[in-house]
Amino acid sequence: MTTTHTRMSNARVVDELERARRATLALLEPVTEADQRRQVSELMSPLCWDLAHIAHYEELWLLRALDDVAPTDPRFDDLYDAFRHPRRERVDLPILDPAGARAFAADVRARTLAHLATVDFVTDEPLLHDGFVYGMVVQHEHQHTETMVATIQLMGEGFAHPDGAIADEPGAATPAAVDPFATCAVPGGTVTLGTSTDPWAYDNERPGHTVELAPFVIDRYPVTNARYAEFVADGGYDDPRRWTDAGWAWRTEAGLAHPQFWRAEGAGTWSRLRFGRREDLPGSEPVQHVCWYEADAFARWADARLPTEPEWEAAAEGAPVAAANLGHRRWAPSPVGTLPATAGRWGAEQMLGDVWEWTSSTFAAYPGFRSFPYREYSEVFFGDQYTVLRGGSWAADPVAVRTTFRNWDFPIRRQIFAGLRLAHDA
Ligand SMILES: [Fe+2]
Repeated sequence: MTTTHTRMSNARVVDELERARRATLALLEPVTEADQRRQVSELMSPLCWDLAHIAHYEELWLLRALDDVAPTDPRFDDLYDAFRHPRRERVDLPILDPAGARAFAADVRARTLAHLATVDFVTDEPLLHDGFVYGMVVQHEHQHTETMVATIQLMGEGFAHPDGAIADEPGAATPAAVDPFATCAVPGGTVTLGTSTDPWAYDNERPGHTVELAPFVIDRYPVTNARYAEFVADGGYDDPRRWTDAGWAWRTEAGLAHPQFWRAEGAGTWSRLRFGRREDLPGSEPVQHVCWYEADAFARWADARLPTEPEWEAAAEGAPVAAANLGHRRWAPSPVGTLPATAGRWGAEQMLGDVWEWTSSTFAAYPGFRSFPYREYSEVFFGDQYTVLRGGSWAADPVAVRTTFRNWDFPIRRQIFAGLRLAHDA
């Protein structure tokens, strides 16, 4: 067997590890110890649990798996295993306090860097090949940092994170005069999904394979707040014809009437609460904080549909990560039309970054899938209960965003930074 290697260097991995940690610590730095320790929402872990869990995962994969060292504390395998305790229970466990979590993370990191200096990525050992396991740990940290951003948003009026002020380059936030209904034709045919070659792609993105797609049309932009507000104004939340049976049941049980964090200000105007700040709803930004049921109902109301996962990936072909609004530089999605450099081959913009986009697909294994390096990353989530999101949000990091990347969640979840983009039959 011949094996190809990219030139993943130890220096690049050190950079990525350090960049992830800077982002995590910068996010937490302005948050009080009490706020890091408390349960903000039943849906979320205490922030200090996330930080120690990040460190525990790093110790597990970069020290114990690679170097066979003893755990810092054998109890951590229970306390920081996401499968053993639901998020709402973690606050009552004997977890490390914020200072203890920071010290644990720093200690693990120092030992990780020392061991990394001895590692060679040109190897057929699958964990180390092209630095895969380091990429997994880096992406894991960024994914938890995005989750922590969502926790901070759920603090509501209680905390205005100082980085949450929207800081754009001068003039950059001025929405271009664009048609939010603009569409792009995608020709279909034989398209490649997933990857067998991206060194840091997860098991669920593998292997690369081809599927046949009928031609279809996809919106150039994600659905904006202004378009979504029309759906609300038109009684979309009160019309069961727009909803699936399960969606209507959930809309009724949860009392959904508009996206999370919106507030009616009278006469068809809305405000939103964003990181402790109440502000006018920006009509040209992509809508976010809608669950799958809401996204699907909007699409029906608009006489359209959500794209399937293969359609989404085909439409995103060639979309450059570097141009995307990622990495919580701007603590909100960018107005549509302001990032033309994000366009992929078929002209759709802002497919990467801004908001996760709900697809119509449930989370399933690709043909030839092999669980790696552990079943609990992907395999245990395959099934009809999770729907797939694509593209990455403004709070996701570029290293954990690519056109093949698959995210998944329950169709009722809306604390995540998720919106939608419409597809249409050709
Ligand atoms: Fe995790």
